[in-house]
Amino acid sequence: MDQRFLDDLFARVDIVSLVSKYVHLTKKGGNHFGLCPFHNEKTPSFSVNGEKQIFHCFGCGVGGGAVQFLMKMENLEFRDAVEQLAQSVGMEVPKEGNPREERRRDRLYELMREAARHFHANLARPEAAAAVEYIRRRALAPQTVTRFGLGYSMDSWDDLSRAMKAKGYSEEELLFAGLTVRGKNNSAYDRFRGRLMFPIIDVRGRVIAFGGRVLDDSLPKYLNSPDTPIFNKTQNLFGLNYAKKSKLGKLILAEGYMDVISLHQAGFDCAVASLGTSLTSDQARIISRYTDKCIISYDADEAGQKAAQRAIQIFGGAGVSVQVLRIPGAKDPDEFIKKNGPEAFNALLSQSEGQTEYRLRIIRQKYDLSHDDQKVAFLREASGMLAGIPNAVERDVFAGRAAEAAGVGKEALLIEVEKRRRADRKKEEAARHREDISPVNRAQPKERELRYRDTASAMAEETLLAVLLQRPEHCGQAKALLQPEDFSSEPLAEIYRLVLAGKGDTVHLSTELSPEKFSLCTKLMMRELPKDEKRAVADCAARIRAEKLKGGAPAGEEDPLLAFRKMKAKK
Ligand code: CTP
Ligand code: MN
Repeated sequence: MDQRFLDDLFARVDIVSLVSKYVHLTKKGGNHFGLCPFHNEKTPSFSVNGEKQIFHCFGCGVGGGAVQFLMKMENLEFRDAVEQLAQSVGMEVPKEGNPREERRRDRLYELMREAARHFHANLARPEAAAAVEYIRRRALAPQTVTRFGLGYSMDSWDDLSRAMKAKGYSEEELLFAGLTVRGKNNSAYDRFRGRLMFPIIDVRGRVIAFGGRVLDDSLPKYLNSPDTPIFNKTQNLFGLNYAKKSKLGKLILAEGYMDVISLHQAGFDCAVASLGTSLTSDQARIISRYTDKCIISYDADEAGQKAAQRAIQIFGGAGVSVQVLRIPGAKDPDEFIKKNGPEAFNALLSQSEGQTEYRLRIIRQKYDLSHDDQKVAFLREASGMLAGIPNAVERDVFAGRAAEAAGVGKEALLIEVEKRRRADRKKEEAARHREDISPVNRAQPKERELRYRDTASAMAEETLLAVLLQRPEHCGQAKALLQPEDFSSEPLAEIYRLVLAGKGDTVHLSTELSPEKFSLCTKLMMRELPKDEKRAVADCAARIRAEKLKGGAPAGEEDPLLAFRKMKAKK
């Protein structure tokens, strides 16, 4: 994107007010602090610097500028985030720089839509009789089939490819879209064959992928599109294109495509499902954009209940209140509605449990409370769970419930809970302190792929870059002393190269580096500088050169994890 435009935009946007819309910030010195919206924490390690227009979380290591914040927060692509920011300050984004790339994506979207049309039209063909019969058996109404664009992939190696090629799409495009698979002899064949097809549609109404179900009990039951340039399974939800328009004021999160469709058919047009994986934090964040109330309605079996527990954790920081639905006498919502009708499901919804209630019940089920020792064990586990509840009133209420279940007084349990809270807080502080005082831990970036091989040299490299990023006037001095090749860490060398080329500003860094490496920069830009900057540059350069002469391991030779273990063993 046009650098001049980005320069102008970044100059007008204020990251502090942007972040404040999502995070409660408190000013301390030159920085603002708050609880990181990207990971779960109880003490703030997320900081925003208004002067440099950057944020960095010292807990999870994520950092960036206003654009990166908005991208992560609202799950947007770079261009969309820029557009939104531009709009907020009354600027207009210049037209896309790479029309070829745009055109290629547009064609992918068109191809997916054509494929969906083809699958849908297949239902009218005589060879699809089994699929039509299957749809009837699953009690899907014709309007439902149309609304969700369900279809059938013929039991053929090339039915779809032939049809799409006739429409002008190339073999390459079909592979790219994940509609075909390359076989051993290098020839491509249709990925989906003899399956009931569920188009996956994004919130803008575009077909981006497919799920395909077998018509019998053979395995695998479902086949899904792979990730493609227009599809990422961790960042989309099945049914959201309709659920986002629902008037029900909440979202129901189910496990399967079939559950979602069945719920919509029964009038619960707010149902969504993740796509062949368990819920991801990105999906939780997307959900939080549309509602502050989510009802988890997973399968009743053990796997489903485990997944529900995990989902609660993932929703943890997203500001969505979560409730868990219990489905008595049926394996999933689809079966329950078939058996008992929509009214009965509505009744379930109105009595769904809050998450604390749900977690307490799960703990309670583990113990036989008629035995005293089990009672004690139950109260111990319950107090651990209760200690994690931030709200005191809620702690009090549920301590009452737990105490009642065990037949003991609430006061004793509450004292135990408070003890646990103090212990938890101490533990968290101790962990933070350990991290602070251990140079090895502190020097290692959070992101695995950026791990340093030679931490002694890397720390000097970091300090040098911290100086140069904040005081570019020292670049000349550094350049005379040190080449990027002298660095022990490739990511840091890459940053050094940019800095020497005069591209040490946030616009260049953010557009030329990966998000992980840019996060590393924001960490360095927030670091306090040594008093004598010139001397620091000279000292760091000397240190880096000395480490290089000592020979360390040349780049890529030693596994960093191995080196770390060795170092620990030596201690
Ligand atoms: N899934 C998948 N691949 C599989 C099995 C399941 O991707 N081999 C995903 C699908 O998104 C599916 C969801 O997990 O919708 C839930 O699986 P399951 O409960 O087995 O499927 P349902 O959609 O409930 O289908 P049905 O009612 O026909 O069993
Ligand atoms: Mn199911």
